[in-house]
Amino acid sequence: MKALVTAAQGQVGHALTTLAKTSTFDLLSLSRQQLDIADLLSVQAAIEQYKPDVLVNAAAYTAVDKAEADQATAYAVNETGSTHLAQACQHAGIPLIHISTDYVYCGEQKVPYIEGNVTDPLNVYGASKLAGDNAIAAILDEHIILRTSWVFGQHGNNFVKTMLRLGKERDELGVIDDQYGCPTAAEDIAETIFRLCESIQSGKASWGLYHYCGQPATSWYGFASHIFDRAKTLGFDLAVTVKPITTQDYPTPAKRPKSTLMDCGKIKTRYNIDQPDWRGRLDAIIYAECTGQS
Ligand SMILES: NC(=O)c1ccc[n+]([C@@H]2O[C@H](COP(=O)([O-])OP(=O)(O)OC[C@H]3O[C@@H](n4cnc5c(N)ncnc54)[C@H](OP(=O)(O)O)[C@@H]3O)[C@@H](O)[C@H]2O)c1
Repeated sequence: MKALVTAAQGQVGHALTTLAKTSTFDLLSLSRQQLDIADLLSVQAAIEQYKPDVLVNAAAYTAVDKAEADQATAYAVNETGSTHLAQACQHAGIPLIHISTDYVYCGEQKVPYIEGNVTDPLNVYGASKLAGDNAIAAILDEHIILRTSWVFGQHGNNFVKTMLRLGKERDELGVIDDQYGCPTAAEDIAETIFRLCESIQSGKASWGLYHYCGQPATSWYGFASHIFDRAKTLGFDLAVTVKPITTQDYPTPAKRPKSTLMDCGKIKTRYNIDQPDWRGRLDAIIYAECTGQS
């Protein structure tokens, strides 16, 4: 099976590219310069040239705060770009695996969200991603949308790396303790996408929307505390004190949902894919960041 991946330089795009090196998958990943999803001609040209059996979209406008002031670009990538991909896949007769976000939910629900729950994004990023999900579902039957959350990987910028950097620079760090979610390793998302590709290849795909995130759920403060505890266990004592703060203490341009825990039962039932423990993915990043090998 030949898979074409967008956003080779992104966290998930890079994890997919790295994983492909040790698998039998014929995977080609293209950077934004090689395939701009906001440009229909660029999308059509790439599909015509590489003739993939499946398209995997790891590209998105992901700058949550910047999106508030740059709504046009967020929508051009997240809605129009997704529309282009779905149209091109439909024309070529191939399926699309697309990644979405927990930020499509408002975060007020007391129990984990299931795929059928009402979406009500609080910010431009979430709304633009939701518009993309809806466009794909309306255009292309053969799609899998994977809604994930709090992504961190070995490549790219993310919360884990920011915490480790700040932990080296500061004595004390305030981290939000009243927003809850599920960290998810880009490497686990890549493995799951490969599993989905295998199901597509064997004709056993079950199309539609799926939640997929790591476990256990935590707050940003809980996540940060675990990162520093783990770093200490690995011999990197950053000597920083982490203090819990509230959302009110740390105002940002974009509003963020309070709790976006997602029930991942559907992907377990249809694909036998388990929620991974995100804690198992931290060591490699901590080691790389703390030894300057990243
Ligand atoms: N990061 C998170 O915490 C998080 C949480 C939930 C869901 N997600 C979703 O997970 C997916 C992957 O996110 P990620 O964390 O891997 O994101 P990321 O590291 O920010 O990477 C996004 C990638 O998209 C590329 N891109 C932006 N506009 C593009 C365009 N017009 N055409 C082609 N490529 C374009 C970027 O290119 P450049 O490198 O050139 O900028 C970048 O490589 C996204 O759908 C995101 O919405 C992420």
